[in-house]
Amino acid sequence: MTQHPTEPTPDRGPAPRQALATAAAPRDWWREAVIYQVYPRSFADSDGDGMGDLEGVRSRLTHLRDLGVDAVWLSPFYASPQADAGYDVADYRAVDPVFGSLLDADALIRDAHALGLRVIVDLVPNHSSDQHEWFKRALAEGPGSPLRERYHFRPGQGEDGELPPNDWESVFGGPAWTRVADGEWYLHLFAPEQPDFNWEHPAVADEFRSILRFWLDMGTDGFRIDVAHGLVKAEGLPDLGSHDQLKLLGNDVTPFFDQDGVHEIYRSWRTILDEYSGERIFVAEAWTPTVERTARYVRPDELHQAFNFQYLSTHWDAAALREVIDRTLDSMRPVGAPATWVLSNHDVTRHRTRFGNPPGLGTQIRSAGDPELGLRRARAATLLMLALPGSAYVYQGEELGLPDVVDLPDEVRQDPSYFRAAGQDGFRDGCRVPIPWTRTGPSYGFGPGGSWLPQPGDWAELSVEAQTGRPGSTLELYRSALAARRAQPALGAGESVEWLDAPEGVLAFRRTVPDGPCVVVTANTTGAAVSLPAPGEPLLTSAADGAVPAATDGRFPLAADTTVWWLA
Ligand code: NOJ
Repeated sequence: MTQHPTEPTPDRGPAPRQALATAAAPRDWWREAVIYQVYPRSFADSDGDGMGDLEGVRSRLTHLRDLGVDAVWLSPFYASPQADAGYDVADYRAVDPVFGSLLDADALIRDAHALGLRVIVDLVPNHSSDQHEWFKRALAEGPGSPLRERYHFRPGQGEDGELPPNDWESVFGGPAWTRVADGEWYLHLFAPEQPDFNWEHPAVADEFRSILRFWLDMGTDGFRIDVAHGLVKAEGLPDLGSHDQLKLLGNDVTPFFDQDGVHEIYRSWRTILDEYSGERIFVAEAWTPTVERTARYVRPDELHQAFNFQYLSTHWDAAALREVIDRTLDSMRPVGAPATWVLSNHDVTRHRTRFGNPPGLGTQIRSAGDPELGLRRARAATLLMLALPGSAYVYQGEELGLPDVVDLPDEVRQDPSYFRAAGQDGFRDGCRVPIPWTRTGPSYGFGPGGSWLPQPGDWAELSVEAQTGRPGSTLELYRSALAARRAQPALGAGESVEWLDAPEGVLAFRRTVPDGPCVVVTANTTGAAVSLPAPGEPLLTSAADGAVPAATDGRFPLAADTTVWWLA
């Protein structure tokens, strides 16, 4: 049953509710925030059905407080047939029963706020589910129905309309068009169960303005916008004219991605957000060809942040990292938006596994590589990321150093892109395996039952329980790093880094704030120790033994694949 939050609920007051009060918090909290991504189906399961839920998330909020993050971003938990793990929304104002109810969402938001955590929800405006009321009615009413204009229905090409209306392909593989029984075709840039909305239609724009208000009234602190680059399609839906569309995705402006018209939508959304108190934010999932084009989404009257996928796609290589860091900072400075940094999310192979493999394999990898090397680099990459100016995103489980589960049997996989691409692509299930909380128990404490994807047999020692208080564990490294980031404003602040001389394969830079101590960061991306001048007192190292070798004659050996923070 859908409860409307403006109705008084039995044990809570009526909406609208406040976002997290900012009286005691610094202004612009989001500029340096560390935001933790919860993938609800894989975080914690309260009822033993093997699928995580909102009550599970609520029961584990203290883990996030103790970790020291500022906010939680929840991937979709709305009513959905789950054709794409909830990114196919059937009702934007309801919680799917598998995840709980609106009351659970309300309780989760309240508890998070009480712990000082902000809550960002996922908004999916590019497409709905094919089980959305509008789409079901549009199908039922047939060609010519005004409801079809809310989506992209078209007659086909060819003598009998047997060919799709244009040459666009789905991001998940295969044509981006599906033909319905009456002969018309509809557009879906993702799975056929995810028909694209027609954003030229005023009803679509009105509906999303209303959905924004619904969740703002629930007290959420902002939105992550799914496929933010895709809402507007080029006039007339022209052919792409390329036989290798997948290569263009994210590397070029196409008739369906990164069209200029999207910016008008975000300007109108920004005026809504700004009516609400509490410094709420938008973050764009916008895959654009360059960081410069990403910067257009975060101009002062548009969105607040955009994910930095160029950074995510960069291998553990000093020169490449320096280049992407500089380009990011240079492109964000003119628009006044904070840079963001991210290493993992629910769509890419976990960075421990990426960094344990050779470069050039992309962001979806099927090989385990060298897990120990991957972990060393992942820990070093985390300290590098958390010392860069701006906001950082952490994906659930990376604080445990989880590897990707690369050997899931095909029959348990659920990623629709795996099936559309005939097993040649779509390895996103490997980063979605439910996370381990305890050494023992069914599903390592994920819940009282099993887990919707099988967990590897050796995850007990990776669990939160096993790593808590264990010197040198990845969890304790994250906790120390986030505590240090709070104590040393130089780590997250500002808009630039001051590069210092360093040998090939090493990054060294200074981070400063007026009136505070500065921090020097040294990161060795090579496989051998490098001798460097000791810039001050060691603050934190990514090395598993937690030790920074003493300096002799003012120099110290920076171990292979290690980052050290120094107070200078
Ligand atoms: C991006 C989401 O992160 C991904 O999981 C989803 O499959 C697509 N958008 C389609 O909504």
